[in-house]
Amino acid sequence: MTVQELQKAFVDAYGQKEDAVYFSPGRVNLIGEHTDYNGGYVFPCALSFGTYLLLCKNGTNDVNFRSINETEVIKVSIDKINEPLARGTWANYLMGVFAQFIKRGVKFTEGYDILIWGNVPLGAGLSSSAALEVVTAFALNDQMKTGYDRTELAKIGQKAEHEFAFVNCGIMDQFASANGKKDHALFLNCDTLEFELVPVKLDGVKVVISNTHSPHKLGDEYNDRVRECQLALQQLRTVRPELKNLAELTQAEFDEIKGAITDPIALKRARHVVGEVQRTVDAVKELKAGNLEKFGKLMNASHASLRDDYEVTGKFLDALVEEAWKIDGVIGSRMTGGGFGGCTVSLVKDEAIGNFKAQVGKTYKERTGREADFYIAEIGDGAKKV
Ligand code: GLA
Repeated sequence: MTVQELQKAFVDAYGQKEDAVYFSPGRVNLIGEHTDYNGGYVFPCALSFGTYLLLCKNGTNDVNFRSINETEVIKVSIDKINEPLARGTWANYLMGVFAQFIKRGVKFTEGYDILIWGNVPLGAGLSSSAALEVVTAFALNDQMKTGYDRTELAKIGQKAEHEFAFVNCGIMDQFASANGKKDHALFLNCDTLEFELVPVKLDGVKVVISNTHSPHKLGDEYNDRVRECQLALQQLRTVRPELKNLAELTQAEFDEIKGAITDPIALKRARHVVGEVQRTVDAVKELKAGNLEKFGKLMNASHASLRDDYEVTGKFLDALVEEAWKIDGVIGSRMTGGGFGGCTVSLVKDEAIGNFKAQVGKTYKERTGREADFYIAEIGDGAKKV
């Protein structure tokens, strides 16, 4: 939908014109998976698609939530806005953000009419939920003149996800949605939150996102991975008491002390994290040096580690990636995001894209019975007022 169409939909829904329109993007992560909540590096980019939020003060004590993507219309009194509704209710993502503002001392004295529309494929692992949280945080920051910077808005979004969606996610998705920049990827240190914007100039190569159409649902399995990493960290601290994060360890340091991890599952998880952090640092170096082929090899190794050690890929993601690896002109391919379904990200030479879609689409269908979808990623800007 265009912004004009959204404005018209707002008037149709609420009988008045909106005060403002905001946008925040989804993201695709190029490399650095399941490292964020371990204090490691990630390398995501914001996408040109995302979530729009239109709002208007309504002179009542209620906040009205409507979404063009959802059928349920929700009305919540402003003094109950920080109490989550039933698990899975879509407005919880926005209410979780209101709750964070309230926790920081912000007082809402008047209700809003809110309309949402997003074009991030839902459940595809491209951070539709982070886009929704960040657009809400961005809008409330503007409305309430709270002056939080983009990093704070990302933290607000992350907390909303923890407390209202019960996923103990890292900061990557909300950070990319808040801080992304057109044609750049964010090389983010998730411990210090320092970041560098790295130009993604890919001559003759595109970033292709492939959707398994096996919806990823982050929840128990994701939270299990977070816990398994914490266990590994605790056990490593018996020999390295000052260790803050798994991601601090070099490969050599890890090899020296890994015997302290007695739980075999936790050992595999930690091995992935340590390797993935190094791959991410190396990948950024290779990209800066223009060595795309080496970058691609690191993407492939990332997928293998997520499959074998982290065990978050599953048959749909593995099928898409394995079929992509077979195609001439594919520089690298891996799952992206939390895993357990969702999307893959591949670097594909321009001249190979037609064949890539046809062949991977065909063999994926033969292997899984599902249709894949392909999008050429456009790297866009972070949250903004439209
Ligand atoms: C999800 C989480 C992120 C990150 C990725 C895996 O997208 O929201 O914080 O942990 O999974 O890299």
